[in-house]
Amino acid sequence: MNTVPEVVAHFDEATHTVSYIVWDKASQRAAIIDSVLDFEQASGQVSTKSADALLSDIAARGLTVDWILDTHVHADHLSAAAYLKGKLGAPICIGANVGKVQGTFRTVFNIDDVSGKGTEFDCLLADGEKLPLGNLRIETLHTPGHTPACASYLIGDALFVGDTLFMPDYGTARCDFPGGDARTLYRSIQRLFALPASTRMFLCHDYKAPGRDKFVWETTVGEQRAKNLHIHDGIGEEEFVKMRTERDTKLSTPALLLPSVQVNVRAGQLPPPESNGTRYLKVPLTVPRH
Ligand SMILES: [Fe+2]
Repeated sequence: MNTVPEVVAHFDEATHTVSYIVWDKASQRAAIIDSVLDFEQASGQVSTKSADALLSDIAARGLTVDWILDTHVHADHLSAAAYLKGKLGAPICIGANVGKVQGTFRTVFNIDDVSGKGTEFDCLLADGEKLPLGNLRIETLHTPGHTPACASYLIGDALFVGDTLFMPDYGTARCDFPGGDARTLYRSIQRLFALPASTRMFLCHDYKAPGRDKFVWETTVGEQRAKNLHIHDGIGEEEFVKMRTERDTKLSTPALLLPSVQVNVRAGQLPPPESNGTRYLKVPLTVPRH
């Protein structure tokens, strides 16, 4: 049985996000992982240029999309999952614990049209759950830490890790979002590091580490174990937790955090229109008390 899926990456420079089309060559059955819905914060303009590029690529390759996957509720870009589902008819899947994240943001944004149970998604994937992809299988690995509901997807020799790890010269994902936890991330990454060293690892973001002049998003488990700045072999849990926690105190809020989570907890649907037909995103304000 072929265990080497075809993978093509689409990089969105505006949000530094990498979306993937992955498919079984024999059957031409495909999955989309971590799509992007374009959004211009200043004007409120939503567009589907990036998602349409995925659709064109899929059509040109003659692929049939069986699954639209997100690795987690992203905080740095809007997901095009709902738009793609409308075009392709494929179900939207995410890690089974997404309800926890929805619950948090229901409260933060005071929104009651979000279930808190993940019912906006078509399938909630348990740890170890497998989906067919032609002659291949997609195995879900729960890898919480960056958020409480992060999942990684193992397809043959290709592992899609979302925001757990970045390139070896850049390190690991932040753990200071609601429900994030550095210790949990360490343990999730050790699970990924237990896979064969030759496993191809595909990341959800790249920001170009200092001294590197090109974007890169593919590495291997072996390379991460040998070289990852934050968590290579020999870095213990306590050392990692201390580094990650200190570093997180110095990071600023992602530019698209507030729009992203409001759309992504709705599985990529925009908020419902108000009585004038317009859809709005909320900004919760922090106001000084005098
Ligand atoms: Fe993220």
